[in-house]
Amino acid sequence: MFGRRELVLCNRKVWDFFLLATRNPTMATAEAIFRTGLPRLHHFDPFFNCSSSFLSVKPINGRSRRSRRNHCSKAVLKCPAKVYACRGSIDPLSFGRINKSAGGPGSSRCKCQQQSETFGSDGGGMSIPVFGINGGGQDFALLQQLKPENGDVAVGGNGGMLDGNGTAATSTDVQLKGASTNPIEDEAWDLLRASVVYYCGNPIGTIAANEPNSSNVSNYDQVFIRDFIPSGIAFLLKGEYDIVKNFILYTLQLQSWEKTMDCYSPGQGLMPASFKVRTVPLEGDENASEEVLDPDFGEAAIGRVAPVDSGLWWIILLRAYGKCSGDLSMQERVDVQTGIKMILKLCLADGFDMFPTLLVTDGSCMIDRRMGIHGHPLEIQALFYSALLSAREMLAPEDGTAELITVLNNRLVALSFHIREYYWVDMRKLNEIYRYKTEEYSYDAVNKFNIYPDQIPPWLVEFMPSKGGYLIGNLQPAHMDFRFFSLGNLWSIVSSLANMEQSHAILDLFESKWEDLVAEMPFKICYPALEGQEWRIITGSDPKNTPWSYHNGGSWPTLLWQLTVASIKMNRPEIAERAVELVEKRISRDNWPEYYDTKRGRFIGKQSRLFQTWSIAGYLVSKQLLANPDSAKILMNEEDSEIVNAFSCMIGSNPRKQRGRKAVKQPFIV
Ligand code: GLC
Repeated sequence: MFGRRELVLCNRKVWDFFLLATRNPTMATAEAIFRTGLPRLHHFDPFFNCSSSFLSVKPINGRSRRSRRNHCSKAVLKCPAKVYACRGSIDPLSFGRINKSAGGPGSSRCKCQQQSETFGSDGGGMSIPVFGINGGGQDFALLQQLKPENGDVAVGGNGGMLDGNGTAATSTDVQLKGASTNPIEDEAWDLLRASVVYYCGNPIGTIAANEPNSSNVSNYDQVFIRDFIPSGIAFLLKGEYDIVKNFILYTLQLQSWEKTMDCYSPGQGLMPASFKVRTVPLEGDENASEEVLDPDFGEAAIGRVAPVDSGLWWIILLRAYGKCSGDLSMQERVDVQTGIKMILKLCLADGFDMFPTLLVTDGSCMIDRRMGIHGHPLEIQALFYSALLSAREMLAPEDGTAELITVLNNRLVALSFHIREYYWVDMRKLNEIYRYKTEEYSYDAVNKFNIYPDQIPPWLVEFMPSKGGYLIGNLQPAHMDFRFFSLGNLWSIVSSLANMEQSHAILDLFESKWEDLVAEMPFKICYPALEGQEWRIITGSDPKNTPWSYHNGGSWPTLLWQLTVASIKMNRPEIAERAVELVEKRISRDNWPEYYDTKRGRFIGKQSRLFQTWSIAGYLVSKQLLANPDSAKILMNEEDSEIVNAFSCMIGSNPRKQRGRKAVKQPFIV
């Protein structure tokens, strides 16, 4: 068994590998060493343990002694044969190991404790709530009993949750902290807290949907990375940082998992789409159990979709955590820095691409089913841009990062130019496309992507307001996907991927097309829906994505929080306020659906979950931000002056503005 010293040595060894690798010209070397060269030790920060006072490491293939004490262990990464665990400070008995049976290719384990026992051994005194590990349907049953017909909730408090310090909050604390005069908000907080998932007694995420007595749970009992973002923001804004910190660090560990699908491994920096905490019997002791972290990188997801957005959201949340809590030590940690670099490396890797946009398969983001968004979907580009800016802010200056920063800067400039120039449509641009010449071979083609004007769909001619515009959903050779995708447009505002003028124009469009995009429930994930033959061909006749349902023009209340950040950024909070008012009319009475159906968003979605956590959290974040608009800054990226300069140089060289190829002095190599 290794003691404290060995751990230090152990880390030292890994650190040396890292230094060696980063001294080499590219980070790829570091990754290669991690992937192949390291003697399957562990990810190089052992991560905090349950008590966090000190860590020790021991091989996992020796069995543990049994103990009644609470303790926690966790299998460390990339080590199917031999795994090392860290544990609590007093009782050195626990361990973790890779679980092949319960957790697919690898899972992280934590030997478990009785739910009601006091947790931790260093005086942390963390008490685990009765509803414990995977949220608890019984809390909803209680809530529902107490919920009068009109949707008002008579329950206050936080359902026995932990407060920000990991101690059990009393009802007085709760009233003080969560004091709100709005019963819908109170209900939302109760529901959000009841959706919290624990690992080793620590809150680490929120379950996707916590619908009591649901017969078809599918994977909604998991913690989805993208779904947790509004939950995490809600907790951050409430001053409860632990859950977000835990989420960031545990998912970081999952990033390094060995993952395969049919013998093929996706890129190393990939973050899972979701993970589940499983409680499994402890081998050799039927009275004890242990917890296993079981990630899904898409290898179990319907359609085997790649969660490209997960890593991007992770970076965005990490930055928000630092800005909100003031705890910058998190982003400075060596393992966190490596995590950021691994995501960047995956996204910035050279490929066959001609465009600076990220090339992805269908269903790689919130729309995680076939919906014709393969290629360069706007949502991914907006998150990518935001993650690049956020990562640049957080990367520690050191040997080996300079080159990465250069690549990153070049990509930022090229990406913003590409999106602002080629994705943008308004009346003027539409008319320009309508008159495009085609088959232009040459460097100074105006119609660079050879778009045939007949592609302009008839609905758009009616839909496009004279004031306002938006970024189209996707751009490929000879193909513009003119559908309006809400999240991509909103996050382009938040991240400054869209310029100021465009950002205002997008909000203008929201206002003037309110009846189409919002109607009775905020708001459409995309507009318009695919119908008839188009639906058959593009979705593959997907019965879940029928017209005006689910991803195909369904209305998603969770999008409220992104609308709120965007409208606060543009100093137009009244837009979000109007949407919140609409939500409050129904959402609690309807039991917080995942999505609504029909053109006007009148019905609870055909297959919609109820008590969908990101609908709840999205509402809460909106309320919090509207109450304190300044706090939205933790999510925004301001326009970068260097990018603006480089951008104007590029505009000058754009044949649309100025025909002919001219040498332009550029501060960045594009
Ligand atoms: C659905 C949504 C996806 C979400 C998941 C969990 O698959 O399409 O965006 O993350 O449910 O709520």
